[in-house]
Amino acid sequence: MTATEDIKARLDIVDVINTYVPLKRAGVNFSGRCPFHSEKTPSFMVSRSKQLWYCFGACSEGGDIFKFVMKMEGLEFLEALKLLADKAGVVLPKYDRARDARRNVLLDIVKTAVEIYARELNSPRGNFALEYLKRRGLDQAVTRQFALGYAPDTWDTLTKALLEKFKPADILASGVVIKSERNQGLYDRFRHRLMFPICDIHGNPVGFTSRILDETRKEGKYVNTPETLIYSKGKVLYGLNLAREAIRAQDCAMVVEGNMDVIACHQFGIANVVASSGTALTIDQARLLKRYTQNLKIAFDADPAGQSAARRGIDVILQEGMRVKIITFPEGCGKDPDECIRKSKPVFESAVLEAREIMEYYITRALGQYDIKGAEGQSKFANLMLREILKVTDLIEQDFWLKRIAEICKADEKVLRAQLARLNTPPLRGSRNASAEVLPSAVRPPKARLELLSERILAIFLLSPQAAADGLALITAEMLAPQVLRELYTRVTLGYNAYNSIPRSGNADLNFRQFWRNWAIKEPPDILSTADILELLADKEFEGWSLLQLKHEAEFIIEEVRREYTKVRRAKLREAMSQAERFGNHARAAELAREFNVLQADTTNKT
Ligand code: UTP
Ligand code: MN
Repeated sequence: MTATEDIKARLDIVDVINTYVPLKRAGVNFSGRCPFHSEKTPSFMVSRSKQLWYCFGACSEGGDIFKFVMKMEGLEFLEALKLLADKAGVVLPKYDRARDARRNVLLDIVKTAVEIYARELNSPRGNFALEYLKRRGLDQAVTRQFALGYAPDTWDTLTKALLEKFKPADILASGVVIKSERNQGLYDRFRHRLMFPICDIHGNPVGFTSRILDETRKEGKYVNTPETLIYSKGKVLYGLNLAREAIRAQDCAMVVEGNMDVIACHQFGIANVVASSGTALTIDQARLLKRYTQNLKIAFDADPAGQSAARRGIDVILQEGMRVKIITFPEGCGKDPDECIRKSKPVFESAVLEAREIMEYYITRALGQYDIKGAEGQSKFANLMLREILKVTDLIEQDFWLKRIAEICKADEKVLRAQLARLNTPPLRGSRNASAEVLPSAVRPPKARLELLSERILAIFLLSPQAAADGLALITAEMLAPQVLRELYTRVTLGYNAYNSIPRSGNADLNFRQFWRNWAIKEPPDILSTADILELLADKEFEGWSLLQLKHEAEFIIEEVRREYTKVRRAKLREAMSQAERFGNHARAAELAREFNVLQADTTNKT
């Protein structure tokens, strides 16, 4: 047995999920409100026997206990494995114990440094820093919540304290000290600075950002810990550990530039805020956020540096298929969120509420740059906007903005469309190689109607073949979508024939589901897991329905499937007809037209 199997065998998926999401019994399964999107009616199902969860709502995504914990806790697979192994009392093989041990030592060192800096802040020599915090309006609660500290104006306070407990090599590796070139001794990296611990999502401090207190010194305003085994600037988001609950609850994260901005927001009761720490949001940071929400609002400084960082961040966000809006603070209300919220919370809040669609924001800005009445200005404006439109992943949204640009320029939509196609030829979008599995479902377009219908009819079939068999006989596999459901259709109908051909004397009650599972045991895994999900869907939707009710439902769905299929067919015929005409093949076109009319009559009769 592998470690994962062992863990699954020892833990009950229902118990584990229930600690995050209140679950209620729903027939043989359990249901609750999906924790990954906000919803009023529960569409989140958990099956104990199948060791499976699935959201039949907006996510249409599911998986096993590991996938759940990964999504819920924002963990990588190995991290989830560790967490669940602990819960289950399973001992994992010791593959990277040495590295783990080193990490733990470094975490211990940084944690100790956080404590030392906090103590210094409240000591007599920390008074200057404490006064500074007061002057900037930070209260005690938020100072403590963010574990702010003070690095005294000495060369060895921290070094000495750490050397009592840790080895020099480890202290050096944690990044909080520097090795002297001259005598190879260690000395404090941060001196006379305000210290902001940076934490991982679990709240373990992994490094520091520090702010200058004496601005006359020739030092960076903000200085960070260098990259270490446990800290990488582009991979953490300041404040995420304190923000993640709020982000998930509000299904939206606000991204700001500075540490002080995050802290100010918290102090004023706005908790879904993280900082990218003065740089453009990186791919890794966007993916971190994506574990909690798809919706971001960006509030970067109005200065050119802030604006360009915001832009680069936005590209990353769009590449990840996330949604982004831009917050702009009104003139005279401070240059950053910290200043704005301290000036006026209502102004701040309405700025957040009125965050603009990214394209809207680009349009306004570009209109200020170009005179679109002239040919050149219009071309520059339109091309700029089309390039931005290309970055929008959703086609319907793309179309919306294209129309909008056409309207603004009073230009022909067709021309813009042609230009858009031209611009699209070189790979402008950067590499979008994230596999479908990595992309969370909310990014996926909503399921097409035909797919929903296909799922439903097959779900009924698996639940009660008698109810669906007559209907299914009226359609063919090709009428369903997508491919995996077509295959499943073929496999279950074949299975049903086999099932019916068994002489049924003693065990007349042989359950089709069980029969089919044995019969289909060698089917490809995707067919079987699709069947799992559809069985869960059936339990959710049709629990307690009578045979007659199921029959009616099946008839209705079959009717709809045929209608949807006809629609698609007609579109294809129309396309083929115009193609035939274009090539002067009139006989073929007439033949297609006849077919088209038959289809037409067929459906109008039925409606
Ligand atoms: P800002 O210069 O906008 O500072 O840098 P701020 O957040 O408004 O800070 P205060 O209000 O003057 O104290 C924004 C963020 O960029 C990062 C820091 O994380 C900072 O919070 N930064 C800035 C650096 O990492 N290094 C720098 O030299 C400057
Ligand atoms: Mn500021």
